[in-house]
Amino acid sequence: MQPPKISLPYFDIVLERFAEGDTDAEQVFGRHVHWGYWENPVEADGSIADFTVAAEQLSQRIYAAAGVKDGDRVLDAGCGFGGTIASLNENFNQMQLVGLNIDSRQLEKARQQVQPQKNNQIEFVEGDACRLPFPDASFDVVLAVECIFHFPSREAFFREAKRVLRPNGRLAISDFVPVSVFYHLYNFLRKIPTFSINSTYGNVNTEFTLNDYQKLAIATEFNLNLKEDITRNTLPTYPIVRRFFEQAGKQDSANVTGLIEIASRLGLLRYCVLGFEVISG
Ligand SMILES: C[S@@+](CC[C@H](N)C(=O)[O-])C[C@H]1O[C@@H](n2cnc3c(N)ncnc32)[C@H](O)[C@@H]1O
Repeated sequence: MQPPKISLPYFDIVLERFAEGDTDAEQVFGRHVHWGYWENPVEADGSIADFTVAAEQLSQRIYAAAGVKDGDRVLDAGCGFGGTIASLNENFNQMQLVGLNIDSRQLEKARQQVQPQKNNQIEFVEGDACRLPFPDASFDVVLAVECIFHFPSREAFFREAKRVLRPNGRLAISDFVPVSVFYHLYNFLRKIPTFSINSTYGNVNTEFTLNDYQKLAIATEFNLNLKEDITRNTLPTYPIVRRFFEQAGKQDSANVTGLIEIASRLGLLRYCVLGFEVISG
């Protein structure tokens, strides 16, 4: 069954820039479409080259949280243009790598640009992360890099991840996690049209707290074994993304990104890497 179509306005903008031959856009978002990770954020120099290194480091940090190793079968749910699959392909051997995405346009680009090496196998599959088209116990690792806030239900995704993981399987994600006061500020500001998050980022739920994750892990039989707040390491991303939207003539999108930046700088919205392990009976 075909997954439902979802609205992702920022991907429409990114794909439009690529189609117009914007080489800066291709360098910024042609591989990873996520925030960067800087070990020393004060050393970030604001250049595109610096950002692409940081974006690669974020992927590596998330799959390290899942303890990926040679020979694993890995599912990357919400795989974008296949950047994390590409990184795994470059750094590990004998892997079975599967990227899943609800958007066939992204998969088309992923298939073109990621070719297997090092005795790895790669497959890109169209589907919804909350209805995984894979058999039970078929993966060692499931990843969801900066995409779970789009999924129709975090609980449905966790139940599916648990189902497709083998005993002792690992799940790692990154997410924007609010502290409680953020709900009120965000709910107030999002009513102002200039700050409509949905008109840039589509359907986004940033209301799931660390406490909610703890409860979800218990309900879906995972151990939450790693919690890293890397907010300060991601902050140099914001000027890059704002500049991208400004150059694309999308001032509203730059403004709303500025709003997320303020919430992040004030510590109201935390960028977290979370690692989970299947509780095996
Ligand atoms: C911010 S992008 C991150 C892409 C990729 N993980 C990366 O880090 O480059 C969010 C991704 O989630 C995907 N997505 C959103 N909802 C989805 C769903 N229900 N099932 C699968 N993928 C989904 C989008 O198409 C997009 O590729």
